Formats: sequence, structure tokens, C-alpha cells
Amino acid sequence: MPTLPVRIDRAAATPLPAQLSAQVRALILNGTLTLDERLPSSRALAADLQVSRSVTETAYEQLLAEGWLATRHGSGTFVASRGLDSSTRRATPTNMSANKLVRLDSGTPFVDPRYRAGWRRAWREVSATTPPPGYDDPRGLLELRIALVERLARTRGLDVDPDDILITAGTTDGFRQLLAELPAGAIGVEDPGYRAAAATVRSVGRKLVDIPAAQPITQLAGVVAAYVTPAHQHPLGPVMSASDRLSLLNAARAAHALIIEDDYDSEFRYDVAPIPALTSLDRDRVVYLGTASKSVYPTLRVGWMVAPPALRDAIYERRLTTHAGASWPSQKALVTLLRDGWVDKVVRSARRLYAERAVLVADAMTPHATAVGPLAGMYSAWLLPEDRAVRARDAARKAGFDINLLSAYCRSSELTGLVVGFGGISDSELSGALTALTGALESCA
Ligand SMILES: Cc1ncc(COP(=O)(O)O)c(C=O)c1O
Repeated sequence: MPTLPVRIDRAAATPLPAQLSAQVRALILNGTLTLDERLPSSRALAADLQVSRSVTETAYEQLLAEGWLATRHGSGTFVASRGLDSSTRRATPTNMSANKLVRLDSGTPFVDPRYRAGWRRAWREVSATTPPPGYDDPRGLLELRIALVERLARTRGLDVDPDDILITAGTTDGFRQLLAELPAGAIGVEDPGYRAAAATVRSVGRKLVDIPAAQPITQLAGVVAAYVTPAHQHPLGPVMSASDRLSLLNAARAAHALIIEDDYDSEFRYDVAPIPALTSLDRDRVVYLGTASKSVYPTLRVGWMVAPPALRDAIYERRLTTHAGASWPSQKALVTLLRDGWVDKVVRSARRLYAERAVLVADAMTPHATAVGPLAGMYSAWLLPEDRAVRARDAARKAGFDINLLSAYCRSSELTGLVVGFGGISDSELSGALTALTGALESCA
């Protein structure tokens, strides 16, 4: 039994004493450690956590200085404060007592470790370059916009000029900036759909309208814009057919609504070439949102937007004052990664891996569940009755894997099942997770 329910992460940037003091503070606040409770000695705790005694001593000293702990001569260290009232108590912010689960989420990509040298080279180049002294062009780094012109033409069938592109800090950032310029009114988001999009609409105080996902959209009355994922409906998976694209455009024209195309993972079709962006069919009606989160790293926080001229200019004007957008070093690094062919190599390698893994997932799941979309991207959605999905999810959790329920993406829709991500994990983790899932599904058939 550990003497305290805390966990030290040696890989984290936070110094070990600060990790420990934060967790003990949280344990007092959430009532796990109560007033006058005696703490293990710094020596015992150090032995338990396999850290040096100076780590536990420094953490205790910090908490003594803050008044959370007190010493009593000859009898040790005690809790000197009550926690928060249970009515105002939040979950322990550090949540360190929970075992860390391996997440099979739909958003984490595979970045081939063979290309680490290229990644480092890009950042060396960034570090050797002096940033612009003040705020740069509000549209984003010109070199990056030029590189994206080529990429968007080649991979997305989009013919744009550098000045048509606005660099963002990712899809959600671009969406938020767009919402600030749209006329008052409700926003439609696919249901089930991208949770960050729905959360963003709510966070700016707009009404959210549920648009049934993966079905033809024939009318958009009552919304000023509709947020869709035509290349790979998130999270169900289907691609929007040509006729559905046309009926969506017609519905948007009739309702004077805008379409917002979230093109998050279109590079990862492995059965056919990527379908050109919906935006290429009507640049006046559709806003394009692209991201480096799937083809580079989500933590880079870089994306791009192509909007009709009036909107683009309004966003530009606002950015002259707010300086919203991506950080200069991230943009600069992405220029090098694109120029050196790093992004293309990483995408090709990830596409191969996803194609293999999608088949493994399909082989494991098909006897038990129904696939919704074609094999594409870095996750797949499976229809199952909710009770079976929950049992499989719980069994996976017990085995150390976190897999999302499809119902978590639903607002008014009532689809049930699992969304199995297979990008950002190892082969053995995937096989462990599939064994846990199929074992549970077989036993509750
Ligand atoms: C549907 C969808 N859109 C966009 C993104 C990327 O968002 P961002 O560019 O803000 O990282 C994700 C990431 O998981 C996603 O699932």
C-alpha cells in the first residue's frame, strides 16, 4: 500500500517536489486527507515513491510554509487545514490516484519516429532565425501561406492565393474567430458530431441546432451557418457523396447560410484518393478549416482558414487589434516541415499504418458490431446496443484502455456503440485493447 495516494511523473517538466506538494495540497482540499491526520515521515514517503529524501522534505517544507501542514515536536507532520466544503469541492485537479489509461481516442495521430531527425532539423532552423521584432502579418506567416497554396491545390483541389489564407491556431481557434464575424443566429452542427465545435458554439452564447449526421441535408432554415465534416464525418465516418454535397450547397444558398467545412483528416483515405474539398465547389458559400493536428502534431496548434472575401477581411481587421492566430515559431517550423517533404512522409507512413490497423480493428469488431463508415482515418465507429458498448468499454478500462462510447458524441441523436481510435498507440496496445473489447463482447453476446 502506498503511504499516500500520489504519483510522481519523472518525465514531466514540473520539478518532483512541486508535483508532490501540489498533490498533497489537492488531497487536503478534496478531503482525502483530513484535519489533524498524520502524514508519513519524509523518509518513509521518499522510500515509498522511490525519490530522494530532499524531494519529500522540500514538498513538506513548502506546505508547512503555506499553512497546509504543521509539525508537532517529536510526533511528526500533520494536516493543519480543513478541505473545501463538499458542496464546493471540485475533483482532485491532479487526479493522480487514478491509474493512467491508454487512450484509444479518435484524435491522436501516429507520427513515425523514424522522422524525428527531420522534426529536430526544423526546430534548429527556427532557433537560428530571429523572429520579427513586432507583431507580424495578421494573416499569418507569408512563407507558410505560400507553402499551403501548393498543398491545398495538390491535396484538396483548392485553388487559392496566399492572401486568401488566414493561419489559425487550429480548427477550433479558426471556428471561434469566424463565429465572431457571423450575423447573430443559430449554428448547426452535425449530431453526432465534433464535440469541440458544439462546445465552441455554446461558449460564445449562440444557439446550437442539431443536424442529423451522415444523412442528406436538404434544408438549413433557421441557422446562419452549418458546421460539417464532409471528407470523413466525425465520428461516424462516411464521406459526403457528390449528390449530398450539392443538396447541402443548395440548402445553404436557399437559407442564405454559410457552410463551414472542417477538413481535419482528409489525407487519410486509404481506399481512394482524397475527395476534393467541398469548398472547391463554392468559395463564396463555404469556409474551409484545415489543421496540422493530424498530419503533424495536435500540440503544434496550427491550422488555416480559407473564407469568402468579406469574412476573411473582417477577421483580418479584428486580428490587427487582437493578434489572434498561431505562434510564430510553430508557423516557421511548419514551413520547414512542409518544404522538406516531412509532412508528406509522415502522412504517407501514417496512412499505411492506419490502413493495416483499420483492418485489425474491423476483423475484431465485425463479428460483434456494425461499422458505420468506410475504413478511413485513424478511428472507426461501431454500432452496438448501449449496454453491450458500456460493458465492452468497462472491460477495456479494467485492462487499462480508455475507449469512447459513441453516445458521448450524440446530443439529440441516440446512436450507441463505440468509437475506436487506433492512431496514437503502439501495436501491442492496440492488440491488448482489442482482446479486452472482443473478450467482453463475446461474453455478453
Ligand atoms: C472533427 C475534428 N475536427 C478538427 C480537429 C482538430 O482540431 P484542432 O485543429 O483544433 O486541433 C479534430 C481533432 O481531433 C477533430 O476530431
